[in-house]
Amino acid sequence: MDTEYETPLFFHVMEYAGNADTDVIDMVSGNPDWEPPAALRDGLHEYADSNPDQFQYPPSEGVLELREEIAERRGVATEQVVITNGAGEANYLAMARALERDRGSEIVLTEPVYPYYPGKTTMLGGTTNFVETAADGQLEPDDVRAAASDETAAIVVNSPNNPTGAVYSRETIRELVAIAEEHDAILVSDEVYDHFDLTGRFASALEFDSDHRIVTNAFSKSLAITGFRVGYAIFPPDLVENAKSRHMLVNVAGSRPSQYAVLHALRETGPNYYEQNRDRLRERVETFTDALDAAGAEYTTPQGAFYVMARFDGYPGTLENVERLIDETGVAGMPGEAFGDSRREWLRFALVSPRVEEAAERLARYFE
Ligand SMILES: Cc1ncc(COP(=O)(O)O)c(C=O)c1O
Repeated sequence: MDTEYETPLFFHVMEYAGNADTDVIDMVSGNPDWEPPAALRDGLHEYADSNPDQFQYPPSEGVLELREEIAERRGVATEQVVITNGAGEANYLAMARALERDRGSEIVLTEPVYPYYPGKTTMLGGTTNFVETAADGQLEPDDVRAAASDETAAIVVNSPNNPTGAVYSRETIRELVAIAEEHDAILVSDEVYDHFDLTGRFASALEFDSDHRIVTNAFSKSLAITGFRVGYAIFPPDLVENAKSRHMLVNVAGSRPSQYAVLHALRETGPNYYEQNRDRLRERVETFTDALDAAGAEYTTPQGAFYVMARFDGYPGTLENVERLIDETGVAGMPGEAFGDSRREWLRFALVSPRVEEAAERLARYFE
């Protein structure tokens, strides 16, 4: 049983980069390097001076005002919202809930895949079935339809996508909800990068009302607070109670100071904050892909999220090559093999570093 699930590979790369003798630019993790909204800090300061009763357990499913705020923004009932420890726990609750319905034990995933999905599937005793996406990361609903069966408990998708940067069309999302309904399965739509849609065409699965879809999200990326651990899942009314119980049994409750600060930030932060972050990302995409052009690399230009996948001739995306790149250029990326077989030749670089330009120059010089 010990070997059924493993420490995610990114952890090993971070460790290797941390122990390197050279100055390493971290393009591994998805930690925003920019400021959270000012109101987030204000909320935290304010919280520090509150009464001791505010330092005790919050309601297990989350602070009511935060659930109400999310419900109103997303057009759902407050009862459907569970505040989680980031999108990570939201995905776990959603996948566990789909599997415990006993309508099959298979989880359909896309390839390349965010590695935590297969990790969680195995941990939960499910099996994986991968649907390959196109070279640009787009998902063909008919391929999902062909892969799905009565054994399918859930279809887990992520748009904007980590690692490909693809943003799925509204039609694709509509079809995915329909496929889940056809097989009495659950579409789990992980929308953690929704504020980093660079196309303006992002579609949430919430647009298609259904008892067969769960939407997961978090403030980790949108408010630049991956360390706060505040996310949420929106369940169909019939599925929410058991998910709340699982959340309570695993966590007791979430973090009250984090939820307080997030609520304050949501109420006080206007659209400019998010727009500025997208503009910064657009600039970084341009800087980085220009350098990849100079290096003669093949790459995907992200439509959203934080990541660029690149392929350098004769330099497959193995863990060994990633370590060599750290040692010889001081740039740390993720091995493509972490995301499945289809991107073994590729490396993934996260654009959440103030040193994107320098990293791009180092790579261009190395591979030119
Ligand atoms: C696709 C995807 N889902 C979920 C997460 C985890 O989000 P959180 O930090 O909110 O748990 C990440 C983090 O990088 C991610 O890329």
